[in-house]
Amino acid sequence: MTSKPTIVRTVAELRKRIASFRRSRPIEEAAVGFVPTMGYLHEGHASLLRRSVQDNGLTVLSIFVNPIQFGPNEDLDKYPRDEEKDVALAASCGVDLVFLPTVQEMYPQRRVTTVMVSEVTDGLCGASRPGHFDGVATVVAKLLNIVQPDRAYFGLKDAQQVAVVTRMAQDLNIPTEIVSCPTVREEDGLALSSRNVYLNAEEREQALSLSRSLSRVAEWIGEGVDAPELSELLKREIRRSPLAKVEYAEALTYPDLLPPEPGTPLRSIDGSVLVALAVRFGTTRLIDNRLLNPKEVGVHACFAK
Ligand code: PAF
Repeated sequence: MTSKPTIVRTVAELRKRIASFRRSRPIEEAAVGFVPTMGYLHEGHASLLRRSVQDNGLTVLSIFVNPIQFGPNEDLDKYPRDEEKDVALAASCGVDLVFLPTVQEMYPQRRVTTVMVSEVTDGLCGASRPGHFDGVATVVAKLLNIVQPDRAYFGLKDAQQVAVVTRMAQDLNIPTEIVSCPTVREEDGLALSSRNVYLNAEEREQALSLSRSLSRVAEWIGEGVDAPELSELLKREIRRSPLAKVEYAEALTYPDLLPPEPGTPLRSIDGSVLVALAVRFGTTRLIDNRLLNPKEVGVHACFAK
């Protein structure tokens, strides 16, 4: 059974509806879950929405293509949009409220405040997309203030984004639990992304080099490689696909996102390691990653695809 979510386009209306929900329920049933997105929803988003519906009395989905997280030469103008399909998917997941603000509603006056998270934004996408995480942290802080959810759900495909948002919420005492959820993949291993629609057939085929190279990470770590060696092995594997242009292929500690000392075998590191890739196919930039605990690599020879 699916019922249509209520579509809300203003901050005032959204706040009114959330307050009325909270008033109508005993406190133990009044939890609000929130899934922020830029729309063009796929199964990855659906998994976050279902999780929120399962955990909370009310689920709010936001769909907002946030201009301030796109660089001047990025794909803001052609970012795919399909409001009708998104609302249908939200309905099928049991979402209660869909917040669909305009840019004017989110940024009604010249913005003089920016949320900047340092250190965890130094590498990976933070290095290759200058200003991107300022835009993400600023809009997520605004959305968390607007919705004031008990829990907010983010996909681990954007593992650096999860690290940035988690750290921001801790540093700013934002009383929302940041819940990270596993990456959802196509049958053949390609991580779901709204940007996959840009790939032509040949690029789509070669894009499997990301998940293919990541599937060998446990084996390479088990053999005793350090971070630079792992990076080289990943790049070599990805470059077997001639259309792939590697932007980065790196192993960092997680969630601090610090480079391990060169010469230190990754398998000797305590805690989690993020192995992250950004690869271009033509004008399409794809990211993917593996988050693993090197000390457990031999135990779960994880990541089947
Ligand atoms: O992951 C996304 O879709 C966006 O970065 C987010 C978190 C919705 C902020 O605009």
